[in-house]
Amino acid sequence: MAAASGTILSNMNYQYPKIAEAAELLKARAASLENKADILKAVELRALYGEIATLPVDERANFGKEINTLKAELEQLVAASQNEAEALPPIDITAPFDTNVAADKRPKLLPSEAGSIHPLMQELETVLDIFYRMGFTAIESRELDDEYHMFSSLNFPDGHPARDEFDTFMTVQQDHNGHPLIAPAHTSIMQNRMLRAHADNLAKGEPIAVVIPGRVFRNEDLDARHEHTFYQFEGLYVDKGVNAGNLLATFKTFLSEYYQQDIEIKSQPFYFPFTEPSFELALSCPFCQKKGCNICSQSGWIELLGMGMIHPNVLREGGVDPEVYTGFAWGCGLDRLVMMKYGIEDVRHFESARLDFLRQFV
Ligand code: DAH
Repeated sequence: MAAASGTILSNMNYQYPKIAEAAELLKARAASLENKADILKAVELRALYGEIATLPVDERANFGKEINTLKAELEQLVAASQNEAEALPPIDITAPFDTNVAADKRPKLLPSEAGSIHPLMQELETVLDIFYRMGFTAIESRELDDEYHMFSSLNFPDGHPARDEFDTFMTVQQDHNGHPLIAPAHTSIMQNRMLRAHADNLAKGEPIAVVIPGRVFRNEDLDARHEHTFYQFEGLYVDKGVNAGNLLATFKTFLSEYYQQDIEIKSQPFYFPFTEPSFELALSCPFCQKKGCNICSQSGWIELLGMGMIHPNVLREGGVDPEVYTGFAWGCGLDRLVMMKYGIEDVRHFESARLDFLRQFV
């Protein structure tokens, strides 16, 4: 048989349209089958053999021969796929190099004991621990999102200029409204999700209290204070009778715990579409205790984050009645917070993979 002799039977010309048709169909199906051998059991192939008996006697031999050719063609497909499977040994997708590369040509890896947790992740643990003790839970943000969570759910009207403040990276994939999926520019994308998830608990007297850390992305001009990729942690607190004083006290307590010293705060009015009123918060420089240093540009104060009382439209969109409940939110940059703790002068060190930088935090 042709398959056994190894001849390639590609694109045979079949004389019988029925067989030609079946050949096309079965080859196409074989291409998508994981186990190619299953194609030999196809009902269409068996049906062709069944046809033989219905044909005029003098046609039967030719027809039968052509089915055999088709079967041989399919067997050859199966054999070829099995050879292919044998030629490629399974790979270890967790290996940090291509396992087909000879041992002496593989990259030299550091011993795993020499690895360490990234300083930002180490500090994030500290941040979350403080908030756990204050009664917050934590949930991670996400790294791909849609226009609704990035803007509309946060009370940015269509075409509003404030959207330009959050210039991020877009993918070619689209959400169900035909907008490109984006790399989120802030962790506020989680506000609507958290409100919806916990709105029912409010009626049971349980406040919504959640911190949401995540990696965020912006199309920035890079310098010592601006990175395209950085970390934020969002805070969200909703209950009856929550006010801006609660917000400031909560954040002052957090900062004093984090820096292990009494931190002063200063708020000034700001604008965010998703909070009303909105503030920008500055803290007394934890590095020089307001004496003036390079970290605080000699001013004694450092602007750290945006915060405010959650806008009624944002609460409503999240299924929370703004006539009954109020809440506060903040979005704080983790990188900036950590830079001030250790006197790190350039935010780009964090993503630089420079071991001499990273090893200082082991
Ligand atoms: N999302 C804002 C930003 O990245 C920060 C922010 C401001 C978050 C006010 C908030 C908020 O939750 O209430 O610039």
